[in-house]
Amino acid sequence: MDNARTLLWSIVARVTDGAVVIVGGTSGICLRLAEVYAARGRDVVITGRDLERTIAAAAAISGPGSVQACAVDLAAPTDVAGCLSGIGAVARLVIGAVDRDENSVADYDVARAVKLVTLKLVGYTEVVHQLLPRLAPDASILLFGGLAQRRPYPGSTTVSTVNGGVIGLVHTLASELAPIRVNGIHPGIVGDSPYWVDKPPAVLEGITARTPLGRLVTMDEVVDASVFLLENGGVNGVNLDVDGGWLLR
Ligand SMILES: NC(=O)c1ccc[n+]([C@@H]2O[C@H](COP(=O)([O-])OP(=O)(O)OC[C@H]3O[C@@H](n4cnc5c(N)ncnc54)[C@H](OP(=O)(O)O)[C@@H]3O)[C@@H](O)[C@H]2O)c1
Repeated sequence: MDNARTLLWSIVARVTDGAVVIVGGTSGICLRLAEVYAARGRDVVITGRDLERTIAAAAAISGPGSVQACAVDLAAPTDVAGCLSGIGAVARLVIGAVDRDENSVADYDVARAVKLVTLKLVGYTEVVHQLLPRLAPDASILLFGGLAQRRPYPGSTTVSTVNGGVIGLVHTLASELAPIRVNGIHPGIVGDSPYWVDKPPAVLEGITARTPLGRLVTMDEVVDASVFLLENGGVNGVNLDVDGGWLLR
C-alpha cells in the first residue's frame, strides 16, 4: 500500500511539477501542441517574438491548464536570458521556432542565412542553457528539426542545413544533460500547417505521390508523436521521422 501511495504521489508530482514551455508556440504545430497540453490540465508557457501577439495566442487556448505568454527572439540569442527570466520550474521544454529563409546557394542571402542558423542552432541551445537550472532530472526536451535535411526542396538550403544540425544537437544534449531526456522530431511536409496549406497543388503533388500514405502527414500526427517523445520515459536521444514513409521512395 505504501509503495502504491508512493507511486501515485510520484506520478502526480511528475505531472504537476513544472510548466510545459513551448518556444515558437504561437503558430502551427507547436500551437496545436500547446492546446493539447493545456487541455490535459498542464500549465503551459508559449513564446513568440511579439508579446501582444503571443498574449493573444495564449488567450485563445482553452484550459483547464493555465497558459502564459512570453516574448523571445531566438535570432538575438544574447537577449534570451532576460526574456526567459520570468519562467519558473520547467517539466517539458519544446523548441520549435522557425523563420524560414527560402535561400539557395546560387542566389545566397547571407544575412537571412545567418539569422536562421543563429535562431535554430545557437538560439535553441541558449534556451536550453538558460532554462537548465529550472529543469528537474526527470524533465524532457524536444527539439524540432525536419526532413529537409535529407529531402531538400527548392529554397531549403539553410533549412536543410540547420535541420541536419538539430540531429547533432539532440545527440550532444542527451549526452551532456543526462538523465534529462532529449529527443528530436523531424516531420516531412505537414500538409495542414500554415506554411504549406496554401501552396499551389503543383508544389505538393510530387511530394504526395512519393509518400506511401498517399497524403501528407498532419499537424495532429506530429503533435501525437511529440507527446510520445516528451512523455515516454524510456525514449532518449532519438531523432524521429514523421513523414508517412516519404523517405522510402
Ligand atoms: N510545417 C512543416 O511542414 C514542417 C516540416 C518540417 C519541419 N518543421 C519544423 O516544425 C517546427 C514548427 O513548424 P511550423 O510550420 O508549425 O511553424 P510556424 O507555423 O512557421 O511557426 C513558427 C513559430 O516560430 C516563432 N518564431 C519565428 N521566428 C522566431 C524567432 N526569431 N525567435 C523565436 N520564435 C520565432 C513564431 O512566432 P511569431 O511569429 O509569433 O514570432 C511561431 O510561433 C519548425 O521548427 C519547423 O522547422 C515543420
